[in-house]
Amino acid sequence: MENFAFHNTTDIRFGKERIASELKDAVSQFGNKVLLTYGGGSIKKSGLYDQVLKALDGLEVFELSGIAPNPKIDSVRAGQKLVQDNDIDVILAVGGGSVIDASKVIASAKFYDQDPWELVLDSKKRFAIDQLPIVDILTLAATGTEMNTGSVISNPETKQKLGTGGPHTPAVSFLDPTLTFSVSKWQTAAGSIDIFSHLTEQYFDQKGYENDVRNGLIEGIMRAVIKWAPVALREPDNYDARANLMWASTMALNGLPRTGNVNTWTAHPIEHELSAYYDITHGVGLGIITPHWMEFAYSNETQPLFASFGRNVWNLTGDDKTVAKAAIEKTREWLGSLEVPTTLPGVDINTEDDFEAMAASAVKINSLDQKAFVKMTTADVVNLLKAA
Ligand code: NZQ
Ligand code: ZN
Repeated sequence: MENFAFHNTTDIRFGKERIASELKDAVSQFGNKVLLTYGGGSIKKSGLYDQVLKALDGLEVFELSGIAPNPKIDSVRAGQKLVQDNDIDVILAVGGGSVIDASKVIASAKFYDQDPWELVLDSKKRFAIDQLPIVDILTLAATGTEMNTGSVISNPETKQKLGTGGPHTPAVSFLDPTLTFSVSKWQTAAGSIDIFSHLTEQYFDQKGYENDVRNGLIEGIMRAVIKWAPVALREPDNYDARANLMWASTMALNGLPRTGNVNTWTAHPIEHELSAYYDITHGVGLGIITPHWMEFAYSNETQPLFASFGRNVWNLTGDDKTVAKAAIEKTREWLGSLEVPTTLPGVDINTEDDFEAMAASAVKINSLDQKAFVKMTTADVVNLLKAA
């Protein structure tokens, strides 16, 4: 097992009916001036917005609304102005990954005098400056942003969607599964696929052959997602389904599953190109790419890991080759059962014109030709996209 460091300070408040009694203290420990950030209005429709304002009574609350899926740098710029002009003490992000991601970069941008896109282009700059504390109320189980330092921000002008890391995870995350009862089938499926993809990205690593603690953790979370995603689609207000997906979201990307890993991710950088060019839903794009990536990555050399995946996640039996191949098929079937498109034409991507540029960018950003679990050249990525 490789040496690793693990450090995570997010204060998790999991469960129902905690906001009224705990939110104000969680926020006001950092000061009285609060920037409340949210998306396109789902929190108003659900009544959460009113509940939050009531809980924050007595604090000075400013607002930034309209943070879009695949959050755009313009929202970060607007947030930067608000936190600087009003000398904000703490950001309360209420929403899915997009709202929380944008809020993390706004939290850094308070301490930066220039265009915050530069902070996205070069994360090192964020480590040289301070970052406001974030309290969040998660409303969609998917990204894991509620317990990690990452954000993904899009710049439509330059057709870039880039990951950026900051010095801090959210200070406090409220994870109330009942808040996800209202998530649409589309977003429930996309979120579940995103969680599953975070797990496969970390499972399929050169160090995965020897790290049984990490493997068992990942396999257990995978089994939970496979089991509960279809239940949440059928019964949106099934508490156990929503609770399992929410905790899986957090656990899948809080640093624990990648302990000891050495390789970079593959499906994500390719999907980020699809989102950058076509603004598609992140999880749906991952679901399209993943089975093709698995077929590409499967070989005699990687067969043992695919076989473990088949035995421990899909309960398959037989020799390594049979189990490994059947596991890829099972994954494809499960993704296909989630009622979202499984091909690029299914998400209205009907031209191959941009594939070369997208592939070159994905390879460059994540060094896929040097550091991926199974190395990919630009031509390999183009072929994958054509097959999708
Ligand atoms: O904007 P509102 O009105 O709130 O509606 C949202 C949005 O339209 C809606 N929604 C959220 N909670 C809801 C709800 N609708 C009804 N009821 C609720 N309770 O869902 C839509 C999608 O929201 P979004 O925040 O975009 O989804 P998600 O949480 O999947 O976040 C996706 C973004 O996170 C990035 C993705 O690339 C994408 O930009 N990622 C962030 C990561 C990280 N920070 O670690 C890692 C991931 O791999 C991912 O790349
Ligand atoms: Zn993801």
